[in-house]
Amino acid sequence: MKGVVLAGGRGQRLRALTHGANKHLLPVAGSPMIDHPIRTLIDAGITDILVVTGAEHERAMGEHLRSTPLADRCSLSLAPQPTPDGIAGALACAETFAAGEPVCVILGDNLLQRPPTTAINAFAADPIGAMIFLTIADDPERFAIATFEGDNPANPITDITEKPANPASNAAVIGLYLYDAEVFDTCRSLTPSPRAELEITDVNRAYLRRAALRGAFIDGWWIDAGTPESLARAQSFLAGPERPA
Ligand code: DAU
Repeated sequence: MKGVVLAGGRGQRLRALTHGANKHLLPVAGSPMIDHPIRTLIDAGITDILVVTGAEHERAMGEHLRSTPLADRCSLSLAPQPTPDGIAGALACAETFAAGEPVCVILGDNLLQRPPTTAINAFAADPIGAMIFLTIADDPERFAIATFEGDNPANPITDITEKPANPASNAAVIGLYLYDAEVFDTCRSLTPSPRAELEITDVNRAYLRRAALRGAFIDGWWIDAGTPESLARAQSFLAGPERPA
């Protein structure tokens, strides 16, 4: 299975820190943010990794990927996302790299205490459909939210809603996804959402409609470091006793 880190977009919620800079190169606990999701993939045993970044940041990101110590532990390549047209738009830029293999996709601002390695290995052994990962969030309106048969999170997923104003559950879909090679056809079939983005949630809902979506809750903490508050929380988790091994 190949790995894809999506690090394009506008970084608007961290705008005070990202004027002219790529949010994914901001320092988080002593390393640029992007190194944390790259390390998550490596820890899961994935060592052929593509980073997709905004075309305007390609040079700075390329310099970083050549100099990061993680380059000794994996093969890192880079592809530009021509315009920030959404997470599924960024994923579409990985089609040539994937070359028909399944992919483990992680958002460049998502930090995990540990990867769900057992589930990733199980998917790699039977790479059909898609798999999403969930956790219970205190602020579900910030994320895609899943609902379940009988309102029981142990049951199959019935729907996923992107940033609902009135969340029907607090089961948040984190930014880690496993897809078979069909995902690129699905990305191509999307139309922009009301916020003018190609949504990863629409990709996942397409798999759900085909009864080809699996879901699993992760162990350990997870942070979307895309806001100043969550970035600060990430710093303290990564420096604390529950930091990744
Ligand atoms: O963190 C989990 C959440 O991430 C999910 O629950 C949501 O379903 C998903 O839409 C996403 O929500 P965000 O609002 O946090 O997405 P954001 O626009 O902040 O983008 C997250 C990362 O995706 C960003 O760090 C880089 C990448 N990205 C985003 C866009 C819009 C791209 O590579 N290209 C893009 O055009």
